[in-house]
Amino acid sequence: RQRPVIAIDGPAGAGKSTLAAHLARTFGFLNLETGAMYRALALKAIENDFGFDEEEPLLELAAKTRIKLEPQLEGNIVLLDGTNVSRRIRDKDVTSGASQISVHPRLRAWMVAEQRILGQAGGVVMEGRDIGTAVFPDAEVKIFLDADPEVRGNRRYQQLPGTPEAPKVTESALIAEMRERDQRDRTRTESPLKPAPDAVILDSTNLTLDQVLVEAEKIVRSHL
Ligand code: C5P
Repeated sequence: RQRPVIAIDGPAGAGKSTLAAHLARTFGFLNLETGAMYRALALKAIENDFGFDEEEPLLELAAKTRIKLEPQLEGNIVLLDGTNVSRRIRDKDVTSGASQISVHPRLRAWMVAEQRILGQAGGVVMEGRDIGTAVFPDAEVKIFLDADPEVRGNRRYQQLPGTPEAPKVTESALIAEMRERDQRDRTRTESPLKPAPDAVILDSTNLTLDQVLVEAEKIVRSHL
């Protein structure tokens, strides 16, 4: 490829999307949120009354599905078969569904193949759970962004006011839901969530957002 790949992995709520968008702006790269692809397929499964447990029907569904990520300054616009689902895929049912379908090995292989095509020319910040370990093991820069679960849950909770979800969630329910997703990501057989051996681990538990961005920029500059 002509330009570098920056891989950002880590658990839910660590701030990966904010960091990826920032690095993409700073270095003039495109940011690609791979979680949105799992979310889009989970939404299609919900809309077609498919369960999340059986891999085969989900694979057949995936083969008939077009998922497009349009990088923006803040995050991605997500098109599912041409329809903008950017907002809908953040709902709780889709979040849970994405987590459940992402354990299936052949479904992951399909996602990984799509993601390699998206990133093949480089010049991308790709964010997810397995970018540094499975999608681009040869990425020029790998950052594993982590934080304690309580801190991640609390940050998510602080972002809620004003959103439709706000009245429905408590902080403890949010932390519990996040732990469940992390647990599933970390214990699945296929590409479990873990830092690549050559990833730089950035723990944001005791850092402000600005400090995280500054640290990450330093990491990127020292690798490019
Ligand atoms: O990052 P986001 O929360 O949007 O991802 C939704 C779900 O998709 C995660 O809970 C995770 O289980 C799955 N995922 C994955 N591999 C990726 C990105 C997301 O397994 N590269």
